[in-house]
Amino acid sequence: MFDLKIIGTGSFIPETLVTNEMMATIVDTNDEWITSRTGISNRRLSSGEPTWYMGAEAARKALAASGIDALAIDMIVVTTITPDYYTPSTACIIQDELGAKNAFCFDMNAACTGFVYALDMAGRYLSTPGINNILIVASENISKIVDYSDRSTCVLFGDGASAAIVSRAQPGDSSALLSTVLGAEGDGGGFLVSRALDLKHPFVADDKIWPDRFNHTAGHFIGMAGQDVYKFAVRSMSDSIMKAAEKANIGMDELHYIVPHQANSRIVEAAARRMKVDPAILIQRMQDFGNTSSASIPICLDEMIREGKLKRGDKVAISGFGGGLTYGAAIFVY
Ligand code: UT7
Repeated sequence: MFDLKIIGTGSFIPETLVTNEMMATIVDTNDEWITSRTGISNRRLSSGEPTWYMGAEAARKALAASGIDALAIDMIVVTTITPDYYTPSTACIIQDELGAKNAFCFDMNAACTGFVYALDMAGRYLSTPGINNILIVASENISKIVDYSDRSTCVLFGDGASAAIVSRAQPGDSSALLSTVLGAEGDGGGFLVSRALDLKHPFVADDKIWPDRFNHTAGHFIGMAGQDVYKFAVRSMSDSIMKAAEKANIGMDELHYIVPHQANSRIVEAAARRMKVDPAILIQRMQDFGNTSSASIPICLDEMIREGKLKRGDKVAISGFGGGLTYGAAIFVY
């Protein structure tokens, strides 16, 4: 258990709204297929904003909600698989945007599980002296790596960013990070691939360059073995949440909400059946935002907090799964 309290959240949802009907004008698909197979009706795509900008806007809102000064932030971690630069990191750019001069900064890639990994990391850093406030930003312009002629992937994803400021809980606070379960299955890495820049320099012949490890042919565009990822997702989501509950020593019936990665409503519902939980505690927002990778869980949390749905003292399980393959669950008291 870690003394961790979420003291402020914020999101940036880009304005460009793309409906299923609009997707059907660019690929051979239809609203009925997308809705029934995924639960997604709309997604928002960047209107031109880079990943750093969306993240900084989300962070500004989280800062305002927290009431702390940017100078009080000790660490900034940005989760993204779609940064604008190899260097500087998105976190360094956001530090500059906020004037958070006292923070050390880095980006972290755990694909769609990024926010869960970052929350675990925050809990551990906060348990050491000298770190009091951490800014976690999840910012994703997945549209940069989506092939809009591939109907099997392009209908799924959306862009967006969300941020949370987490601090050390004080004595008397009910807030805490009760448990985390993180993992990865690298042997499934080939099920979800997007390639970075190729090796190429003046002292290497083209025929010496190794072939792609995953036989990935779509370059930086996402290639996904949908059904393999689907099965992994149902298994890892349910197993990790149940393990996290066991670790936290609480029953599944004590959870007020489960906020899963928003990839596909069928995944969430199949995992819920495995966990035998009341479907009413599952948060599903993929219908409006699509799959925004690591931003999907904090976007839901921020919305719940702003709507007053999530209350202090509520027990929440979050669960991520995706590229890597990575997975993770965390249970916290808000
Ligand atoms: O955040 C990262 C984690 N990612 C995920 O969690 C994604 C996990 N996978 C999934 O959610 C599902 O596998 C998909 C939604 C991607 C696909 O659903 P599915 O039920 O597994 O469909 P499928 O891949 O088995 O395809 C069934 C059919 C195929 O046609 P045939 O071969 O049966 O004639 C596809 O070509 O559906 C076809 N299809 C489409 N049809 C209309 C695939 N995409 C589309 C489309 N519109 N957009």
